[in-house]
Amino acid sequence: MNLRRILDERLQQAMIKAGAPADAPALVMLSARPEFGDYQANGIMAVAKKLKIKPRDLAENVLAAAELSDLAESIEVAGPGFLNIRLKSEFLSHRLQEAAADEHLGAEKPAIPQTVVVDYSGPNLAKEMHVGHLRSTIIGDALARILEFLGHKVIRQNHVGDWGTQFGMLIAYMQAKGASYGQLADLEVFYKAAKKKFDAEPDFADIARQRVVQLQSGDELALEAWRQFKDVSLKHCEAVYQQLGVTLTRSDVRGESSYNDDLPNIVADLKKAGLLKESQGAQCVFLDEFQGKDGKPLPVIVQKSDGGYLYATTDLAALRYRAQKLHADRICYVTDSRQSLHFRQVFAVAQKATFVGEGVMLEHVALGMMMGPDNRPFKTREGGTIKLIDLLDQAETAAGLAMDERQDVYGNARTLETYRAVGIGAVKYADLAHNRTSDYVFSWDKMLSLEGNTAPYMQYAYARIRSIFRKEQ
Ligand code: ARG
Repeated sequence: MNLRRILDERLQQAMIKAGAPADAPALVMLSARPEFGDYQANGIMAVAKKLKIKPRDLAENVLAAAELSDLAESIEVAGPGFLNIRLKSEFLSHRLQEAAADEHLGAEKPAIPQTVVVDYSGPNLAKEMHVGHLRSTIIGDALARILEFLGHKVIRQNHVGDWGTQFGMLIAYMQAKGASYGQLADLEVFYKAAKKKFDAEPDFADIARQRVVQLQSGDELALEAWRQFKDVSLKHCEAVYQQLGVTLTRSDVRGESSYNDDLPNIVADLKKAGLLKESQGAQCVFLDEFQGKDGKPLPVIVQKSDGGYLYATTDLAALRYRAQKLHADRICYVTDSRQSLHFRQVFAVAQKATFVGEGVMLEHVALGMMMGPDNRPFKTREGGTIKLIDLLDQAETAAGLAMDERQDVYGNARTLETYRAVGIGAVKYADLAHNRTSDYVFSWDKMLSLEGNTAPYMQYAYARIRSIFRKEQ
């Protein structure tokens, strides 16, 4: 059983002995200040108030009645009447040994396993993956793995941006160049060149616009070119996933385009539900809970006046698909916090329109951003976005340099393989160790340091422990 629950139950028994009603909870939680103990029980004050006795007196009585000698080293009454509990080292090491011997590390299986959709990474395929997708990819993958490990059924969804007018331009350029996979080796360069041609040459821009229309009307040639482009772009993403050790595969990709056919239905069904309103030619949903700063209602636009659909329309279709076809009990969206309003709106509209049942848990796992040393969103020195694949290569180089400087520690462990393990480990660990919702400043020095809460520190400690065990045997 979970430690907190053991303490909760034992202390509740003690509270009953001390005169508390049987349903009064002990409210045990992890201690906010570790220097005062490992856990604290906060439930006594409320009961004392009801019983009209001094909280500290009741706390003393609970302490006297508590049977915790097998696991607690000390229990103290503190503050207005809570209990600070410090656990015995022998007890903890015993628990850890038990957990280590258990193939499931002592984690309890959920009583009712859920089907959880985790939507993460979601790069836009028109360009190469850049650092803006790093946190979603790393944290989303950790979430998916943990939920799976706990015993839930996890369905990964990579909601890639694979639709929109840029694709007309890109496939027109691909065709103009007779581009093969080789010429797409650097998607960033390819995109820039296409854009340049698009801006400079009206004839080319016309062809690009034609390709968009053809794509939208299902023209087979245009579609084939688009599929090829997507394939190359996804290969770029997969190189990143592989380098990061992220579990996403092709079969997890369900891009924006896969919902195209359903978008007219979404609009029609919103209309049927009486939720649509026309505003300046656009189809909108207005919900009371969303208002702009000026107090004016804030619409969710689902169809523009020219008939085009939006990011939100696609997300409504995806949400319905996940709830009704994938039978999700819980859906987690891992993106940076700038999309919070978007998700709150999409969730609210989907619920109102009963696209998702009431029991389905919808969560935006909002992320803080990665900042450059100047405390602004991370950019190259020239002000451009950094390609993720370049950043990961840099990580390995930076790790190599840092490790060469610390020959005293790394010695002959300095190989390309360990440079990679330390470099990539440092990037992933820095991302996971920081508070999920706060922005953090990206710094090679900090994340590669052997001191502090870093990957190299953990890896070093791990290697040391392994060596101790090797010597013992
Ligand atoms: N492509 C989006 C972006 O780069 C992220 C997609 C997130 N998932 C979703 N269902 N909207 O911002």
